[in-house]
Formats: sequence, C-alpha cells, structure tokens
Amino acid sequence: MTLLQINCKNKTISIRDAMLSGIEVFILLFTIWNKSVGNKLLNKEVQDYINANLKADLHSLLLKKSPFPEVSMQEIVQQIKGKQVAEKKFPFLLKDGVIFPPQLNMEQSSSEKTALYKSQILKGKKFIDLTSGFGIDAYYLSQNFEDITLIEQNIELLEIVEHNWNVLEKKARFINQKLEDFLNENQENFDSIYLDPARRDQNKNKVFLLEDLSPNILEIQEKLMSISSQVIIKLSPLIDLKYLVSVVPNIFRLDIIALKNDVKEVVAFVSGEKKKGIFCNCVNLESGESDFSFTFGDEENAQSEYSEPEKFIYIPNNSILKAGTFNLVSEKFGVKKLHPNTHLYTSSEKITEFPGRIFEMEVIDSKKIKKKEQYNIISKNYPLKPEEIKKKYGLKDGGNAYLIFTQSKKGKIILKSV
Ligand SMILES: C[S@@+](CC[C@H](N)C(=O)[O-])C[C@H]1O[C@@H](n2cnc3c(N)ncnc32)[C@H](O)[C@@H]1O
Repeated sequence: MTLLQINCKNKTISIRDAMLSGIEVFILLFTIWNKSVGNKLLNKEVQDYINANLKADLHSLLLKKSPFPEVSMQEIVQQIKGKQVAEKKFPFLLKDGVIFPPQLNMEQSSSEKTALYKSQILKGKKFIDLTSGFGIDAYYLSQNFEDITLIEQNIELLEIVEHNWNVLEKKARFINQKLEDFLNENQENFDSIYLDPARRDQNKNKVFLLEDLSPNILEIQEKLMSISSQVIIKLSPLIDLKYLVSVVPNIFRLDIIALKNDVKEVVAFVSGEKKKGIFCNCVNLESGESDFSFTFGDEENAQSEYSEPEKFIYIPNNSILKAGTFNLVSEKFGVKKLHPNTHLYTSSEKITEFPGRIFEMEVIDSKKIKKKEQYNIISKNYPLKPEEIKKKYGLKDGGNAYLIFTQSKKGKIILKSV
C-alpha cells in the first residue's frame, strides 16, 4: 500500500508517517494543500460565481482579478471550462461538488457515450484501470465489477478523481504510482485490465505508434497477460489495424466505435493465448445504423463484384471504412464496387439496409457543372480535394445536391445526385 492510500483513506498521522522520507513528506504536504484548494473551489460563493459565468468569455475572464483571495482566476476558469466540456462529453459529472482537472486531462478522457458502450461488454469480479486519467472509462467500465482499482501517475489528477468518486458514492482503490512499478510489485490477478495509453509526447504533441504511447504496450503485454485473461486497450482511431494485429498477436476482438459516424476509438481485446481469428465489431452510436460484425477471415475470403455506376451509390459508414471490410460489404449486401481503390458501391435496386449513406445519382460530364452552383462535394480516390474542386469549378458549398468526384474501373468520373 502506498503512502497516499494511507493518508487518503485514514487521514491520520501514524508512527510510520513519522518516519517518512523527505520526498514522502513533500508529497503529503502537496496532497493536503491540493485538497484544500479543492475545498476552496467548493465554497458556495465560489461555486455561485462559477455557475453565473458558465457562458462568459473565458479569455476576458482570465484577464480579470479573482474576487476570491484564496482562489485564482485560472482555477475558476478551469472549473467553468470543465462544466462546459462535461455538458457535452460527460454530463453525469454535472453534479454539485464535482471538480474538474485541466483541459488536457478532459481532452484525453473518453466520452460518457463510448464508455457506456464499452461497459456493456465487460463483467467480472476484479477490474483494474492502469491509466485512470480523469476516470471516465473506469467509472463506466467497472460497473459490472465488485473490486475496482485505479492507477494513475499524476497525483493531482488522481486526487480529483478520488474526490469526485466520493461525491458520486462510488468506491475504489486509488493508487498513485507508475503502472510499471505497480506491475512489478503486484501479486494479484484481475478479471479485466483496462488501458487507455496517453497519446502525447513530452512536448504535448500527438503520437500514434504503439511504442510511442505511454505506457508502451509492447513492453508490458506479456506481464499483463500473466495476471489477467482479458486486457482491453483503447487506441486512436488513426491506428493502422494491420500494424496493430501484427505487433499485438493475441488480439481476439476489435471494436471500432463511431459516434454520429465519427470514429472515436479502436478498442482491442487481448487474451493470454492466441485465439483463432479476430472478431471485428463496427459500432455506430447515435447514427440510427445497426452494428456490422465480421471476422478478419470472412473478409479475406470475400470477393467484390465490380461495375460502372448504376442507379444507387453507397458510401459505407466510417467504422466500416476504418475496419477495411471492403469485399465482405460488397458480397453481403449484393452491391458492386466501382474500383479496387474506390470504396464506393453501386446497385440498380435500392438496398435500404446498407450500413452507410445511399444516393440516387447519375454520371455527368464536367461541362455540365456551372459556376456558382451549390453542391456538397465529395472526393473519393480522386486527385483533387473538395476544396480544390470547389475552386476549380467556381462552386459554392452546401445545399441539398451532391457531387462525387471519383474513379471507376474505366477512369475518373463525376456523379451528381438526382
Ligand atoms: C488517455 S488518459 C486516460 C483517460 C481515461 N481513460 C478517461 O476516460 O478519463 C491516460 C492517462 O494515463 C496516465 N499514464 C500514462 N502513462 C502512465 C504510466 N506509465 N503509469 C501510470 N499512469 C500513466 C496519464 O497520466 C494519463 O492520465
């Protein structure tokens, strides 16, 4: 048990505390100071001021002097920003007494909606989140577990999470440690281990390769497998799936989670032993579309049919595009692909259950496009980007009509909605 745990839980100074090293004393004093800042923020007058300024311009507010000598304007603005972010991203935290961390910690958090989805897949007795962060994932993912442990290297952040979980009346063990050190000392097994590695380097720039993430999953994967039969890793939507499954060989399930057709997360499920095949679930939250599931083997064995554009054109949703199940979609829904590198499909009859957008379109000559006409421009496997196309043809953005610039097997084509 760490020093922090003893002090967080008991709030007493024991004989052991009297023998603390200089560094530990510093941590203890810092913790007490930090708690008191939290308490000052929760003062009724300060909270009233925060609530009265929820719609204020935060840049101008930062230039003002804080009306409270014990709380800085920066701390007040952090709380206002937190409430603004929470309204969209994790409304369950819009509760009296909840404290928000700096913006970067909130940006790194999952949303309540994706966390809730993941929570439905997991069940067991003992759950550990090795990269707690602001604890949004941990809060939801641990719903179906009895024994919950959170590890976080950032002491200020973990203090905030512990405070908030007390407000929410949710119990857990909070451990302020580097997860590598925790794993070296740990003697326990867990039913599920969750990790959401930080994707920023020391200069706060985004990183994407597994070895650049913190922690480096490749270095600890064996250790993780030795203490749990199921490790769940959240990754960036930009991760290359072929690279991922080649460097983490025991992945048995991948969930590509999109919210309103925007892919937010790739979640890898890893087991202790190599399982046959990888199950992939393309999840579409709040888009009205059902999920699309397949195995990598199904995709390898599927073949696309090809055709020039027919009456209906289909653009698969982004979770399917991310999963790369291009041939299976053609086979399963009876739609034909326009070109091996164009992930657009076509059919003469409308396939309403197709997981994506459906357009009725015709091929047009570029001469038919008039300057100043208004279109939504889509470019797929075409040398020009929508902005460049708009400029080239002098078009206006928006409206109800669509132009798709793409390539079929015969070459470049332009499709117009009818
Ligand atoms: C992306 S955030 C996690 C967000 C979290 N899933 C949520 O929903 O709020 C990653 C967190 O892992 C922590 N972290 C990164 N490397 C770590 C390590 N080696 N040991 C302990 N914590 C670590 C970072 O401090 C950061 O707070």
